[in-house]
Order: sequence, then structure tokens, then C-alpha cells
Amino acid sequence: MTFNPLKEKGIALEKQIRTWHDIVKRPFNKSDIDCYSRTRQILMNGIEVEAWNFKHNFARNCYEQDVRKIIAQTRRIEDMQQTTVNWLTPYDQSVLETTLGYEQVAVDLTAWLAQNEPDDYVKETFDFGLLEDFDHLYRYSQWAYMVDGVNPDKILQGMTDVVIGRPTQNHHNENYTRLRKHYDKTTASPQTKVNILTLLSGEQQTHNFYAEHGMMYGSDSLRKTFAEVCDVEEEHVTMYESLIDPRETPYEKLLLHEFTEVCTYYNCMKDEVNPKLKMIWEEFLGFELEHLRIAAELIKTYEKREPEEIIGEKIIEPCHFESQKTYVTKILEAQIDKRLDALDTMGYTTIDKLNSSWVNYDLQDVVNEEGSPTEKTLQLMAECEGRHIVIASERLKAKEPELLENGLEPLAQAPDTLSPEKLENMIETAPEVLSKEIN
Ligand SMILES: [Fe+2]
Ligand SMILES: [Fe+2]
Ligand SMILES: [Fe+2]
Ligand SMILES: [Fe+2]
Repeated sequence: MTFNPLKEKGIALEKQIRTWHDIVKRPFNKSDIDCYSRTRQILMNGIEVEAWNFKHNFARNCYEQDVRKIIAQTRRIEDMQQTTVNWLTPYDQSVLETTLGYEQVAVDLTAWLAQNEPDDYVKETFDFGLLEDFDHLYRYSQWAYMVDGVNPDKILQGMTDVVIGRPTQNHHNENYTRLRKHYDKTTASPQTKVNILTLLSGEQQTHNFYAEHGMMYGSDSLRKTFAEVCDVEEEHVTMYESLIDPRETPYEKLLLHEFTEVCTYYNCMKDEVNPKLKMIWEEFLGFELEHLRIAAELIKTYEKREPEEIIGEKIIEPCHFESQKTYVTKILEAQIDKRLDALDTMGYTTIDKLNSSWVNYDLQDVVNEEGSPTEKTLQLMAECEGRHIVIASERLKAKEPELLENGLEPLAQAPDTLSPEKLENMIETAPEVLSKEIN
């Protein structure tokens, strides 16, 4: 049976107001939660934050009192949903453990979306971001080991590799060069629109999480690592949001937001293995179907348009989580040297084609002048542990020095850059197993 979100019946708005007891549920147990239940919980928090934020912006620019009224009602529901979802996080899941969860979302979600994206240019942009978040995961994994004494695989559960990606010190660009060509709202498929909004919500929340939690450690080097990666997430938000057609009207955007919430909750409900979480996804799907119906009524009333023109008549599955190691390795081996071309074409290039006037070298020279904290991370691992944390097949592990060689920009390297030779040395001298017992 096909699921047409515009035909399904949701839960009436007055039934969406819940008790504090129901809003704040018992958290999950960090040691027995499935890693993809955790990624769903992280993503859906981001989806709710975006829904809430968007509706405030809509209301601030809206003259229609009736619209402001209904938006105020559903916006409060989004906010209550956000509390429920985010506060499933247990108090004893450390900031770095949660951070690994965030980057696992970024890697495995982006890989899924790239393979389910009908627009080639949008797919290329997803692949570009993928290798950056993949490197963040690798850098944060070192810190989880050094500071929290955590084996990153306790969080990742063997589903996502931990290996060097496009080096983070090279993710810093003039922010305007991240701007991409936007899709055409009249011809883009609903899938493209939902894919982008889903990923954008995740990336924005990742940015916000680092911005709000990076200060929670005493180590200056770790705080600076959070600051450096947080800034890359700002570039990611800039990049992904620029793919959206700016000519979409506020009513169209509202419809797309509610549709994205319907699709993501539907996908979560379908995939969920944790019975408690499954019940939440199912209930919230019911909430969102009603929000969608309201948004559909608004577009009919205020723009005299049919919602089907914008979102079609089928459900989309934008957040299926499964191991993406094969796909990520393929992109890693082929595209680690890819860069933004920084031209009006808004395309991509490779390191060997860049000349010294590439505008992003200037920015990297400034921010990395006194060193790149994500490089310092590896220097500290070399000094303290004589090794680094890598979780991957032997074949991929063996390729690391070559990947680093291909991924680094010869013309812009931070003074504390870990060289491919030093990396090779670390690999050779590393003990077979982690040098201390970690849980
Ligand atoms: Fe919501
Ligand atoms: Fe990231
Ligand atoms: Fe990101
Ligand atoms: Fe909603």
C-alpha cells in the first residue's frame, strides 16, 4: 500500500499538547542503544530545531494574523517534540561521545542521500561534504580516546570507519565560495528538496552542538579543535542551504518543512529497532501529518495552489541508516584532492589545478597561521600514545599515508601539519591493539 502523506490522517492539534511527564521521557542507555537509534535521535533533534526556528522567522515576516496564530500553535508543538527527542540523551553520555554520534550521522546520512539523490550536482555537493565530516570523525575519535578514555567503536559499533579524510585544516574557505547553484523549484523533484532540508537540519544542529558544548573541556587544544570544526560546520550550513531555491515562498517552505518532518519520522518509525523510540517516532509522525495538513490548507488559501505540485503524492525516505563503508571508501579514494573552484561557475576542481592565487589559500594562511588544532590533535596522539586511532579494514589502513599525501594542499599547510612520513612512522610503531584498555 502506498503512503500518501496528504491523504493520511494525523493527530488533532489539541491532542498534541502533552504533560511534562510525557514530554520528558527516561533517557536511553548509552551502552546498549543501537548506534543507528542514536543517529536517528540526533537527526530528529536537528529536524525539530529547524522546524521551530523556521516558524519563528516565518512569523516575524508575516502580516496575516490567522497564519501567525496557527503557526504559534504548531511551533510550540515542535518545541515540545524537540525537548522529548533531545532529552533522550543520557546525562552520562559525554560531549565527545555525543560528538562521535553527530559525525556518524553526518557520514552515514550524507552517503545515503548521495546515493538517493536524482540531481547530479546536488549529489556532487553531498559527496564533497561527506569527506569533510568523515575527517572530523577521525579527529574527534582521537580526542575521545585521549580525554575520555573511550574506544570510539563503542559508539560507532563497527558501522562507520575511522580513517583520515580530506584534512580538516583544508576545509577552511572564504565562506562565499561555498555558495552553490540552487535548484529550480519548478523542476526539482520533491526528493531533492527533502534530501537537502534533511541534511541541512542535521548540519545546522551539529554546528549548534559544537558551538554550545566545545567549551566544556579543560584542554585548550580540544576546545580549539571544537572551534575549528564548528566553523567548518558553518561552511556546511552555508553550502547546503545555498542549494535551495531562494524564490520559494514562505508558504512553500512551510509545506516543505512539514513534509520533511513527515518523511523523516516515517523513515525512523520504519527502521527503528528500539521499541520505546519506535513509539515516539510513530506518535510524532501522527503530529506531523496534522501539521502538514494545516500547511497544505494555508497554501491553498493564500496562494491558490495545490500542495501536490510542490511535494508530490508519495512519501520519501531521506534518513535510512546503514553501514556505508564501501561507498565512503570509494569516494575517499577518488575525491580526497577535490576542492571548491572558487569561481562563478560554483563548481569543483582538484589541488593540482589550483594556482597560488586561489582565494582560499589566503583564508587558510590566516586561520592556520599559528597551527591547526585538528593537526595538533594528531601530534598529541603521536607524542602521548605513539599511535593514532584507526578503525578500518587492513587494506584501507595501509592506504592512509597515500591518502594524506593526496589530500594535503602543498601550498597551504599549517605549521603543525602531520606529514605523511610521520603518519607512516606512527603506523609502523603502533602496537597491534590499543595501548591501554578502553571501554
Ligand atoms: Fe516537529
Ligand atoms: Fe562534521
Ligand atoms: Fe558537516
Ligand atoms: Fe511539524
